[in-house]
Amino acid sequence: MLSKSIALDREHDIAVARNEVRLIAAQIGFRLTDQTRLATVTSELARNIIKYAVRGRVIVNEMKRAATGASGLRLIFEDEGPGIPDTDLAMRDSFTTGGGLGKGLPGSRRLVDEFTLESTPGAGTRVTVVRWIN
Ligand SMILES: Nc1ncnc2c1ncn2[C@@H]1O[C@H](COP(=O)(O)OP(=O)(O)O)[C@@H](O)[C@H]1O
Ligand SMILES: [Mg+2]
Repeated sequence: MLSKSIALDREHDIAVARNEVRLIAAQIGFRLTDQTRLATVTSELARNIIKYAVRGRVIVNEMKRAATGASGLRLIFEDEGPGIPDTDLAMRDSFTTGGGLGKGLPGSRRLVDEFTLESTPGAGTRVTVVRWIN
């Protein structure tokens, strides 16, 4: 099953990752609306990495549910940036430390089936999302 890592080193890599995730989602069999959801999530979370952590990567894993055989996509956005001191606060609608809209994290959570935010100040941040084909 497909697994790949896309480097996020500069602004342009956000669009590269977004397009790549959309393409992989289409190949796996996600409908257009889900392709767009996953592309949007990729854009938001990749942008956070470039903006707040300078660089990082997104790891794309195709998934297969053992019980049903259903396909899905897992995206892991990780960086070794400054981290997030209060993750509950960061997940709140409109919370921003960067003069943004503060919708990236909470909005992304609403677009996927599974969402995990892990962060250690001084060590980095990892956001894991999963969306299943239903
Ligand atoms: N990868 C990251 N590293 C460090 N801080 C982050 C990261 N992603 C998000 N944050 C923090 O979480 C806050 C909320 O993020 P988000 O919901 O995307 O809103 P916005 O980007 O508009 O500020 C950011 O303002 C920032 O403080
Ligand atoms: Mg953001």
